[in-house]
Amino acid sequence: MSDKPEKFIDENGLRLDGRRIDEIRPMKMEIGVLSRADGSCYLEWGKNKILAAVYGPRELHPRRLQKADSVLIRYRYNMAAFSVEDRIRPGPSRRSTEISKVSREAFEPVVLTHLYPGAVIDVFAEVLQADAGTRTAAINAASMALADAGIPMKGLVSACAVGKVDGQLVLDLNKAEDNFGDADIPMAITSEGEISLIQMDGDVTQEEFKKAIEMCKEGCRQILEIQKETLKNKFTKLDEVEIPED
Ligand code: CDP
Repeated sequence: MSDKPEKFIDENGLRLDGRRIDEIRPMKMEIGVLSRADGSCYLEWGKNKILAAVYGPRELHPRRLQKADSVLIRYRYNMAAFSVEDRIRPGPSRRSTEISKVSREAFEPVVLTHLYPGAVIDVFAEVLQADAGTRTAAINAASMALADAGIPMKGLVSACAVGKVDGQLVLDLNKAEDNFGDADIPMAITSEGEISLIQMDGDVTQEEFKKAIEMCKEGCRQILEIQKETLKNKFTKLDEVEIPED
C-alpha cells in the first residue's frame, strides 16, 4: 500500500485524481450482460469493476424459509480473490457478511415484496476489481440488475460515499482518501430521496454530517441519471425491434 499523501487537495481545489471535491469518478454501466441470469449489470466506476446478477423471483426451498406475505431478498456481496492488491481468501468474511446485510436492507424500501409471497430473489454482487467504494458501486449495479430482471420496484437505488480529507468534505472517495482520510460515509438513496443505507467510519461534526448528506444526495442524483439513461437506451432499442407478423 502506498504512503499517506502530504496533501489530498491542491491549491486549486483539485484532488489527487484531478477531480473537484464534489465530483464523482467516471461511471459507465451495461445491463443484460449475462444470458443465464434473469437480470444483470456490469459497472465500472473509476477503477472499480463490478458484475451484478439477479435470479428470481422463484419459489424458495426449503419451504420453511418462505415468508408467507412477502418475497425474501438475499444479497451476496463478494470480492474476487484477485480484486485487491493482497489476494482475498475465498468465502464469506465478517466484512462481506456485513456489507451483504446492509446492502440487502438498502433495497427493502423499493422492492414491492408483497407481490411474491413465498418466493426468493437472489442478488449477487461480484467485485472483480476494487478501488474504494465497492459497496456503493455494487449497490448501483445491483439496482440495475434488479430493474433488468423486471422486478417491480418503486424506483431505483443509487449509492455513493462522502469522506473528509484535509479538513474538507469530498464526494466519492478514491483509494488514498478512503485509506488515509478522516471519515468515510457511504450512503444509498432511493429515487424518492429516502436514505436506505448510511454507515460512518471516522469523525465529522454535526454540521459536516448534514452537509455530507446533501453532497451525497447530489452525487446520487447524478448516478440516478446515468442509471435511467442506461435503462432508456436498452428499452428504446427493444422498441425498435420489428415483431414479425406470424
Ligand atoms: O470498498 P468499500 O469502500 O465499500 O469498503 P472498505 O471496507 O472501506 O474498503 C475500501 C477499499 O479497501 C476497497 O474498495 C478495496 O479497494 C480495499 N480493500 C482491500 O484492499 N482489501 C480488503 N480485504 C478489503 C478492502
